[in-house]
Amino acid sequence: MALAPTSTVTTGVRKKRVMAGMRPTGKLHVGHLLGALQNFVALSREAECFYEVADLHALTTKFDRSSEIADDIREMVIDWLAAGVDPQACTIYVQSRIPEISEMVVLLSMMTPVSWLERVPTYKEQIVELGPEIATHGFLGYPVLQAVDIAIVRGEGVPVGRDQLPHLELTREIVRRFNHLYGPVLVEPSPILSNTPLVPGADGRKMSKSYDNSILLADSEQITTEKVRRMFTDPTKIHKNDPGHPETCPVFFFHEAFNAVAADGIAHRCRAGLLGCVENKADMAKHLNAALAPFRERRRRLEASPSIVDEILDEGSKRARDVARQTLDGVRAAMGLSGSSARRQAV
Ligand code: TRP
Repeated sequence: MALAPTSTVTTGVRKKRVMAGMRPTGKLHVGHLLGALQNFVALSREAECFYEVADLHALTTKFDRSSEIADDIREMVIDWLAAGVDPQACTIYVQSRIPEISEMVVLLSMMTPVSWLERVPTYKEQIVELGPEIATHGFLGYPVLQAVDIAIVRGEGVPVGRDQLPHLELTREIVRRFNHLYGPVLVEPSPILSNTPLVPGADGRKMSKSYDNSILLADSEQITTEKVRRMFTDPTKIHKNDPGHPETCPVFFFHEAFNAVAADGIAHRCRAGLLGCVENKADMAKHLNAALAPFRERRRRLEASPSIVDEILDEGSKRARDVARQTLDGVRAAMGLSGSSARRQAV
């Protein structure tokens, strides 16, 4: 499967700065692996990458269950690491441990019109989906927080899915407004769209924890096989010998992703009515399990030594904080606020 980003990420000798955030939702699924994590790994080979655990963003919808977030962070970071995101090759950090982010949100929120925030499609959609009680000040300000995430580490490229493009556009608008008001301090980021198509879940809809149709990266071989066994297939293929339509079948999607060399042959046999869904699923599960085996092994090792994750997050948060402090100093100076970070620390 082609996972290369569409835009080039190196600028001359200096590596381009890439920033990406993910809300901690606990254990990740195969959709995250194909949609984001493989891209994280590829980008960290060619760019200087900052990967953030967006726990403040998680709070916007989970403020009433905030004590679950610590475990969600740990599980998600274990999945990042097990997927090959290398803390030596990038900076992995926790948003709420960079207090400069929260300070800069206050500053940028002063110049962000409410109408810009109300216009973001996810704002109204989520209120309909999750209920009016999530319409808090913090939730409305979600895109300002995201803008600060990117701007504070001077991210130039941001790997995002299409659904995140409105947020990135708003980041660019906020940055432009800041620079217009106070001088050219902040970097205007561009999206890096990956070519990965939407990963289907077991029911054919987009794979998502909220649809209960996910194959988790942490699932055992047996559970994975069972989930594949119950997966939806082409609804017009009822009998083994009926001709199928692989292009709309979730099982075939996973063949393309994890069994690419055989995919053409499988599609041909399916279309010709020579391949039954039961046999096809068993074969796909075998390839999916083989691809996930090394991941599961790395996950087991990380679970067995929890201090590794703690150390990676301590170290990464420290590094990210150093960068954030410099940007915030520049922002405060441009706005004419008093005192550098060193001076403020002394107070
Ligand atoms: N809003 C993003 C999402 O839900 C997560 C996120 C937070 C993010 N901060 C970010 C993405 C900064 C890119 C850059 O997927």
